[in-house]
Amino acid sequence: MFGLNDKHVVISGAGGGIGRALVAAFQTAGARVTACDRDPELLAPLQGVAKSVFELTDAEATARAVAALVAEHGTPDVLVSNAGFSRAETMDTVDQKSWNQEVDINLTGSFNLIDPTMRAMIANGGGAIVMTSTVNALAHYGNPAYAAAKAGLIAYMRAIAVENGRDNIRANCICPGSVRTPAWDHRVEKDPSLLTKVVAHYPLGKLVVPSDVANAALFLASPLAGAITGVALPVDAGLTAGNLRFIRDVF
Ligand SMILES: NC(=O)c1ccc[n+]([C@@H]2O[C@H](COP(=O)([O-])OP(=O)(O)OC[C@H]3O[C@@H](n4cnc5c(N)ncnc54)[C@H](O)[C@@H]3O)[C@@H](O)[C@H]2O)c1
Repeated sequence: MFGLNDKHVVISGAGGGIGRALVAAFQTAGARVTACDRDPELLAPLQGVAKSVFELTDAEATARAVAALVAEHGTPDVLVSNAGFSRAETMDTVDQKSWNQEVDINLTGSFNLIDPTMRAMIANGGGAIVMTSTVNALAHYGNPAYAAAKAGLIAYMRAIAVENGRDNIRANCICPGSVRTPAWDHRVEKDPSLLTKVVAHYPLGKLVVPSDVANAALFLASPLAGAITGVALPVDAGLTAGNLRFIRDVF
């Protein structure tokens, strides 16, 4: 149905909570998946995939890894640039170090992977790129440096969509709301009741689950979305549609 049978799909951050759901969704659609992460232990449980371990902030290592996976498994038809990281929750914890780290991983690290992959795709006749951004890139929900980097990712995605459409490249972003993955562990450890508070902000009355994000990525990567490019799609259980607490408190 998705037209991805036997297509080569490269997924970064594949060992994480959303990454594992992405791997499962693309495998179910019949794709050949190369799962990438900086942590080999997180990739270890994944079955039936090729694996590639590299650190995205190391541009040379990332370019070498892309060249190797192209040589071994063929040019990717799809890249899901999904790896990300955040720690500095509010402005008072943003400093030079956290700013650099979060921009390096989320924005420059994404470029380090997307650029050589896209060049290979162009030489091969085209491809689809899906980037995992976040609702934090659309309005402020905390994590200032991460938010700035992920908003930069949306601008980069639009640049690709506009300039490389003629190369048969489609590029889109997914902007998930809160998803309970290992990325939330450090917050939940501090406050075990945190997720109840988080859910209260979501119009659908639930958090997003990893498969929600993976299914949206699958659609955007597939020929079903053949005329969709340059889009930042919220997968956010209604969070960015408006301010639910305003409605509750005022009316
Ligand atoms: N969980 C959420 O609430 C949420 C919401 C919006 C967006 N996102 C985004 O979704 C994506 C996946 O997040 P997740 O919740 O699955 O987090 P996660 O922490 O479970 O997974 C992230 C994965 O990326 C890998 N990674 C991180 N930095 C890397 C680097 N420099 N080089 C190579 N690999 C690296 C990690 O090893 C990890 O396996 C991220 O881009 C994140 O920003 C998550």
